[in-house]
Amino acid sequence: MRSFRVTSRYGDYEVVVGRGAWRRLRTLARRGGGHEARPYTSIFVLTERGLWRRWGRQFRTEAGLKNCGVLYVPPGERSKSLAMVEGMAARLLAVRADRRSLLVAFGGGVVGDLGGFLASTYMRGIDLVQAPTTVVAQVDSAIGGKTGVNVGAMKNLVGTFYPPRLVLADPVVLSSLSPRAFRSGLYEIAKHAILAGDRLFRILENEMESLRPENPKSLGRILAAAAKVKVDVVKRDEREARLRFVLNLGHTFGHALEEATAYRRFTHGEAVGWGLLAVLRLANLLGVLAMGEEARMAELVRRIGPLPSIADLNERRIVELLPQDKKTIGGRIHWVIPERVGKVRIMNDIPVKLAAAAFCEVQASSNSTRMGLGAPTRARA
Ligand SMILES: NC(=O)c1ccc[n+]([C@@H]2O[C@H](COP(=O)([O-])OP(=O)(O)OC[C@H]3O[C@@H](n4cnc5c(N)ncnc54)[C@H](O)[C@@H]3O)[C@@H](O)[C@H]2O)c1
Ligand SMILES: [Zn+2]
Repeated sequence: MRSFRVTSRYGDYEVVVGRGAWRRLRTLARRGGGHEARPYTSIFVLTERGLWRRWGRQFRTEAGLKNCGVLYVPPGERSKSLAMVEGMAARLLAVRADRRSLLVAFGGGVVGDLGGFLASTYMRGIDLVQAPTTVVAQVDSAIGGKTGVNVGAMKNLVGTFYPPRLVLADPVVLSSLSPRAFRSGLYEIAKHAILAGDRLFRILENEMESLRPENPKSLGRILAAAAKVKVDVVKRDEREARLRFVLNLGHTFGHALEEATAYRRFTHGEAVGWGLLAVLRLANLLGVLAMGEEARMAELVRRIGPLPSIADLNERRIVELLPQDKKTIGGRIHWVIPERVGKVRIMNDIPVKLAAAAFCEVQASSNSTRMGLGAPTRARA
């Protein structure tokens, strides 16, 4: 088990990754958080029904939660809405949650983002613990204090920065993810490895095929290293801005692919997988990334597993859908371009023609198939 401290302007907190992490909730529940450090008046868990059915008993036993209330949200991105926040706040009030109640978000990024937003606004803020249950949530979304909900088609339009008291990531829960959902998270880990540098990258190169929920030791080690990449980034640059931007590696093409297929064909991680391959190609076409380095990184991404086909997608449509950066005047695309393992640069002057060429080349070199991928998110349990 490993533990990292996130120092944040809004309050410091611990990120605990590994088997047994949930036990750390016992101390917090007993002592309470914050300056006053009084025990909580009540503890509530926000989660999904199926997830809680599978893991609730074990979580409560290990976390030492005897009397906690449970609030369920339906699975899926649609639960990240203001209507859901209103509904959950009303539920909290009905069960008498007060200013000294604790909310535990037990779920993937959806439950984490929604729960974080709810905790940050209910009675102007109650304590929050993140207990992430997907690979993405464990290495990324539960860390960093960004919360939010969607408004219409606009993702995370309304949100807050709100640090949790604790992030407790136990890899044991990942065993109920479908193989495809599990693999999807590995693309984000590959992204972290490209950003982090040679050490994590080499470990992944050596252990990619053994990265499975059935090998908790190897998995725990890599999850911790990948989570640390996010910890290091948010510690240095809490409120987005420049450094945090590097986490968008692979996401510029990735988002366009999700959009072009109406969010149906790819899981988010798979779109990022293709996004990484395309941006590696682009970096090479720009003369920024050497061929050998590109091949090494692309090989790692491809080893994660089969990706749904991109053969039928039109490169002009993809280029049209590349997300513009709204924060800049003129709406230029800010690209995160890899130079080598452990080094990227931000570029905003890349001709779209070159982006289109990179996409076409990746398309041409791939003979993947959509067959045999299984359901993206269904639980196995
Ligand atoms: N706040 C941030 O910094 C940040 C960063 C990245 C992503 N996000 C957000 O995270 C969300 C995506 O997160 P996600 O990929 O975890 O999606 P998710 O929360 O929708 O989970 C994916 C699916 O897995 C299921 N599930 C969760 N845990 C499971 C388990 N242990 N076993 C079986 N099934 C399980 C869920 O029911 C769901 O169907 C998006 O809304 C995205 O915007 C936020
Ligand atoms: Zn992502």
